[in-house]
Amino acid sequence: ESTRVLRQTSKAPSRAPSVSGIGTVVEKPDYSEAKIVVAMVGLPARGKSYLSNKLMRYLRWLEYNVDVFNVGQLRRSKARAAMQTGGGKVDHSATYFSHSNAEASKIREQLANESLESLISWLKKEGNVGIMDATNSTRDRREWIRHRVAQEPNLQLMFLESFCDDPVVIAANVALKASSGDPDYAGMSREDAERDFRKRIEQYESVYQTITEPDISYCRILNVGQRVTINRIQSYLQSRVAFYLMNLHLKPRSIYLSRHGESMYNVEGKIGGDSDLSPRGFEYAKALPALVRDNIGDGPLEVWTSTLQRTQQTGSYLPFEKKTWKSLDELDAGVCDGMTYEEIEEKYPEDYESRDEDKFNYRYRGGESYRDVVVRLEPVIMELERQENILIIAHQAILRCLYAYFHGKTQEELPYIKIPLHTLIKISPRAYGCHEERYPLPIAAVDTHRPKPKGKKGATPSIGAPPAAEEGEGDKNEAKEEFESDPNAARDYFGDKAGKGLGVKPESVSRILEQKVQTGDMAPTA
Ligand code: F6P
Repeated sequence: ESTRVLRQTSKAPSRAPSVSGIGTVVEKPDYSEAKIVVAMVGLPARGKSYLSNKLMRYLRWLEYNVDVFNVGQLRRSKARAAMQTGGGKVDHSATYFSHSNAEASKIREQLANESLESLISWLKKEGNVGIMDATNSTRDRREWIRHRVAQEPNLQLMFLESFCDDPVVIAANVALKASSGDPDYAGMSREDAERDFRKRIEQYESVYQTITEPDISYCRILNVGQRVTINRIQSYLQSRVAFYLMNLHLKPRSIYLSRHGESMYNVEGKIGGDSDLSPRGFEYAKALPALVRDNIGDGPLEVWTSTLQRTQQTGSYLPFEKKTWKSLDELDAGVCDGMTYEEIEEKYPEDYESRDEDKFNYRYRGGESYRDVVVRLEPVIMELERQENILIIAHQAILRCLYAYFHGKTQEELPYIKIPLHTLIKISPRAYGCHEERYPLPIAAVDTHRPKPKGKKGATPSIGAPPAAEEGEGDKNEAKEEFESDPNAARDYFGDKAGKGLGVKPESVSRILEQKVQTGDMAPTA
């Protein structure tokens, strides 16, 4: 029997159920009325594209339909097309961006116009937030945008300026542009590319006017995280955008994700509950400090756990400040809490099938859906954006939702993301998206991942079974199986592969292995 008290569903948004059975499939929220043009403002190399993409991922995670319309990309794709039709190479060096180059200025205006028009027609048809990623750096240009959007009765307009005078951030952005294989600098040395890009910035600087217009809605961000000015924010969605932007920072940092160590319920194949760690789960908890230390160095770290025992036990050996979040508790399986998947299939066959058909939307009776979990995790995301290095020790469904936010995964992909036990995942935000490393530890654990069945009633390997090799996981699962049958193989394996395929450093491996020996599970090797 589960020891967990079922929570009320009051935290879940109430929407009409659409499927029979004990659980419900909850429809997507109706955001059809929310339609905003977000026009970026700022010099080149001020992180406009970074902000545009970050905002897009956040709002998409919250189920808004968002797209970025990048004027630079439009310019480049047109230049490519012209070249392919024999028009010769278009010169996009710094002189093209000079304000005194009348011909080029006209073309750039046409491009901005074309981009805005496609943004507007997309918004009118289906979108909620269209982000115009361009410099929009003069009052005239902004007035022209304002005038055009005002002709559309259902569209709101908001400017988002990234003002940055931090030479370190600017230099990093310039270097990134010059070294990223940007088509504007194809065939140029890195030094030449940097020189030209700096000249381009100067061209813009000579006409740049920061936002001060009193009558328009805007959010002006100074050095991402230092100061935010907001003006005439009108709607709920606009204030949500502004609030999100107020919480961002650009300091380099990593987010570490780990599930709790293997629990007794995991071993028994049961879902939910509040069971203790299994002996192997405790082994993982003891090995975690060394693994974390090797990957974080001496930097600060805060550990966040859920209120459930298995995450707190997993974090108990870590010498860092800890915070407990109720929002990080595992997806509530309601009446199915404490059952195995086989028992659910037998007792509630219709539900079992409904969940497989639409796992993101399916809500357990008296429990939650993945969508409900995303909603309750929003404050966690907001706080995560404010912080530096954080290690989150949580649960399979919770970490899938957080992972999907950082990697921009779709609702279809989200409930099937692989977050294996006994694996530390390091996510480091970069200019476009996030970099990821995974550090699996050679401590065996059951595989709780239930892949999406192929047919309607596909094969459903029971949890509690040994890990099955899955696409892309072959190497790791092979290794796991090897460790189970021959503990000494772990040392050989990590001795060879340390810092390569599995990304674990030799020092932490030997410490982990020593600890394993201390727990009596492995024989000391010669
Ligand atoms: O099996 C471990 C577990 O954390 C359960 O407690 C939870 O119900 C489940 O994973 C969530 O995964 P899925 O959504 O794939 O059933």
